[in-house]
Amino acid sequence: GQTLRSAAVAKGKYFGAAVSPNLFATAAYANALKKEYGWLTPGNAMKRDATEPAQGQFRFTDADAVLKQAQANGQMIRGHTLVWHSQLPAWVPNTAGTDIAKARAIMTNHSENSFPGQLAHWDVCNEVLNEDGTFRQSFWFNAWGGRRYVAEAFRLARAADPTVKLYINDFNVESPNGAKTNGFFNIVSSPIDGVGFQAHFISGQIPDIAATLKRFATLGVEVAITEPPPEQTQATNYAAVTNACKSVAVCVGVTVWGVEDTDSWVPHLLLDANYQKKASYTYTLNAL
Ligand code: XIL
Repeated sequence: GQTLRSAAVAKGKYFGAAVSPNLFATAAYANALKKEYGWLTPGNAMKRDATEPAQGQFRFTDADAVLKQAQANGQMIRGHTLVWHSQLPAWVPNTAGTDIAKARAIMTNHSENSFPGQLAHWDVCNEVLNEDGTFRQSFWFNAWGGRRYVAEAFRLARAADPTVKLYINDFNVESPNGAKTNGFFNIVSSPIDGVGFQAHFISGQIPDIAATLKRFATLGVEVAITEPPPEQTQATNYAAVTNACKSVAVCVGVTVWGVEDTDSWVPHLLLDANYQKKASYTYTLNAL
């Protein structure tokens, strides 16, 4: 029968999941991952606190495990993430403060180590906006004294890997004309290749994400749905998200944020803790 992975491919899309390398040795996890999900996003393994917990001390064990897992099973990778305000080890702000040269050196170092040639997508910037659509006052913003760090991050990422699709990714940017959506729309320009919509929806409050995807498509970028589930997800919400991607030609795929319920910060996934298919699974598969 069809799986999420095969059904998506039949529609010219991918279906993916965020993964935890510590579970790769669990047979039920590895089997479900291989069968159901064609693309992997490292849930934590490529974040700065994982890859460079202390300055100059790189640790790619988990990231490499994700690369290896994907290679063994013919899966693609959404790399996640280069520039984010969160999961940034304390040494970064402590070392650089608001010194742009030091901050740039730190950013460059991570870009150069960001798995060139091995990723399909790379979330270069994650969650750069406030809810009102203005820029978040993150370490990066403060070091550059403004938004220019975003363009610089994309330039560095492009220089480090000429072929990976460079993504900007955020949440609460799914309603067609919200302030944050408008702010997001206004910052997408070359060399950004793709726009990721996290889709952390609250059940019963699902915006018209298809309209939003179509709006962003006019910018000449591809789009992807990168991190459902929302809180309190209902099966119909998954169907809505899946349908939205299906209805937009430049939507390349959907990634759910975990393989099964216990492997997530939000336990509303498609498989339960025993890898049994939930109603959400069936609704998603039927929507593909
Ligand atoms: C989450 C991980 O799933 C957790 O394990 C971690 O403790 C916190 O981060 N938006 C993102 C993801 O872009 O990187 C976050 O992942 C969830 C919210």
